[in-house]
Amino acid sequence: MATAEQIKALIKSHFNDDKERFYTISLQLAAHESKQGHNSIAKAIRDIVDKGRQQTKSKIIPFPGDLQGLVLTEEPETPKSSLVMPAALEKRIDRIIHEYRQKNKLKSHGLKHRRKILLAGPPGTGKTMTARVLSQALGLKLHTIQVDRLVTKFMGETSAKLRQIFDLIKQVHGIYLFDEFDAIGAERTMDNDVGEMRRVLNAFLQFIEQDHSDSLIIAATNNPKLLDHALFRRFEDVLNYNLPDERERRSLIENIMGTFLNARFAWNNVIKLSRGLSHSEIDYACRDAIKVMILSGKTTGNASLLIQALKERQNSYSETK
Ligand SMILES: Nc1ncnc2c1ncn2[C@@H]1O[C@H](COP(=O)(O)OP(=O)(O)OP(=O)(O)O)[C@@H](O)[C@H]1O
Ligand SMILES: [Mg+2]
Repeated sequence: MATAEQIKALIKSHFNDDKERFYTISLQLAAHESKQGHNSIAKAIRDIVDKGRQQTKSKIIPFPGDLQGLVLTEEPETPKSSLVMPAALEKRIDRIIHEYRQKNKLKSHGLKHRRKILLAGPPGTGKTMTARVLSQALGLKLHTIQVDRLVTKFMGETSAKLRQIFDLIKQVHGIYLFDEFDAIGAERTMDNDVGEMRRVLNAFLQFIEQDHSDSLIIAATNNPKLLDHALFRRFEDVLNYNLPDERERRSLIENIMGTFLNARFAWNNVIKLSRGLSHSEIDYACRDAIKVMILSGKTTGNASLLIQALKERQNSYSETK
């Protein structure tokens, strides 16, 4: 039978609407049962989890016609509670949600909710995840524009495609994420492919300025320094993301590993070894450690597996530098 801690964690994750956590704990239950020799119940739990995960994976609905392959639509289920970030950033995200929910009240006073937002920061720190969180919190579909494709695939007609996308923004209410935005946002004075890129950027500036829809327009970049100054002015909010500090690393690991952590977890070492890694890399390391535990039939563990996984991440990171 499952332990009381596992049952509590399972119920909590359900009410937090945290599917990932729910799955992790369910897998842990399976591992627990299999350790006790209850192999058929362990397999049954794993099968249910696998099936459930497949069904709830984001549904990707491609846009029809010309924009196919350029705009991907999904309805993510990413709860805000799974996003680990500094309190100040969380407040900014709450403000976007709050203003959107109260948009009619604002409108009646001639004001508009903030809806043109730039997310800037290193890879793997939660920019795309934030767009997903907003999508889930506001009950709006998330349309992701593959900016790099937009630019490379249709070089000559990029501006025309952009116009089509902004028409869509007007007609189909939702959240529009220009991911990898640097592809069009690079400074206008920089001499790469000057003519075409400048036209594209100017077109974007014009479209975003003229847009008065209710849709949220989010651009994400890892390279804010590259972005043209004129762009910053067009965004009503610029949210900066950073690598996680000690407190954030700890809550991230607690969130992901849940009851896989045992009581005497060597936090000091883990916190030290995770320094400099992004949320995404730490997430991977935790899942690596959980996988080893599950495959060896363990339901909790000390920090050694995670430490090993973090070291691996740190090493591959320095090798690629
Ligand atoms: N702040 C965070 N809190 C919790 N998990 C995070 C956070 N940031 C990243 N992750 C984990 O890492 C994964 C990748 O993060 P995400 O795609 O949001 O990064 P990104 O900032 O968009 O990176 P890139 O610049 O490379 O696009 C997420 O799906 C999540 O599992
Ligand atoms: Mg991203």
